[in-house]
Amino acid sequence: MTEVKRQAAERALAYVEDDMIVGIGTGSTVACFIDALAAWKGRIRGAVSSSEQSTAQLKAHGIDVIDLNSAGPLSLYVDGADECDPHKRLIKGGGGALTREKIIAQASQRFVCIIDASKQVPILGHFPLPVEVIPMARSLVARAILADTGGQPVWREGTVTDNGNWILDIHNLRIIDPVKLETELNQIPGVVSVGLFARRPADVVIVGGEPVQVL
Ligand code: A5P
Repeated sequence: MTEVKRQAAERALAYVEDDMIVGIGTGSTVACFIDALAAWKGRIRGAVSSSEQSTAQLKAHGIDVIDLNSAGPLSLYVDGADECDPHKRLIKGGGGALTREKIIAQASQRFVCIIDASKQVPILGHFPLPVEVIPMARSLVARAILADTGGQPVWREGTVTDNGNWILDIHNLRIIDPVKLETELNQIPGVVSVGLFARRPADVVIVGGEPVQVL
């Protein structure tokens, strides 16, 4: 599996250009990408990172980590996903970094998503949908989600996000209209962000394997 992730990650290097500031996601596939990106050190200006985990790995490779406010709009964001549908809409947040990932995806002109074939699904929702919540709103949000969607919210106990918040994972969803669900869940007070990337889907999906597919 690591080999397949590495294949997708290395193919994503084709989107990196000299002097870029590259947006960087989080997860094991992105970890392969960061390792590959080390060869570009000195040619890129640096990276905007979506998590403490990716920041540590970037710094270990000597790649400058730049604050998004200083970087401005980005040309490229590279990240993994937990599920990907045929319209390049995603579920993300299995690693808990969904909010910063969403911010950087929104700031980027091109979002290249790197996955293995196990992440491809016809309809999103088999993977529990992560929702980052303000801690005091956990029960309120869980009740609202149960009533509105019928999905089963489960508190990811013990996990505190890089933003100091908590995560609810919503089980048993079959997401027929991801844009609508993303919009609705975003309206619940206490929700920081939803791990549905449908309003801003990926632009390019790279699936590791033999051969590597670029969708
Ligand atoms: C991190 O919060 C997630 O959005 C990751 O992008 C997602 O979980 C994919 O991770 P892997 O590449 O480790 O499967």
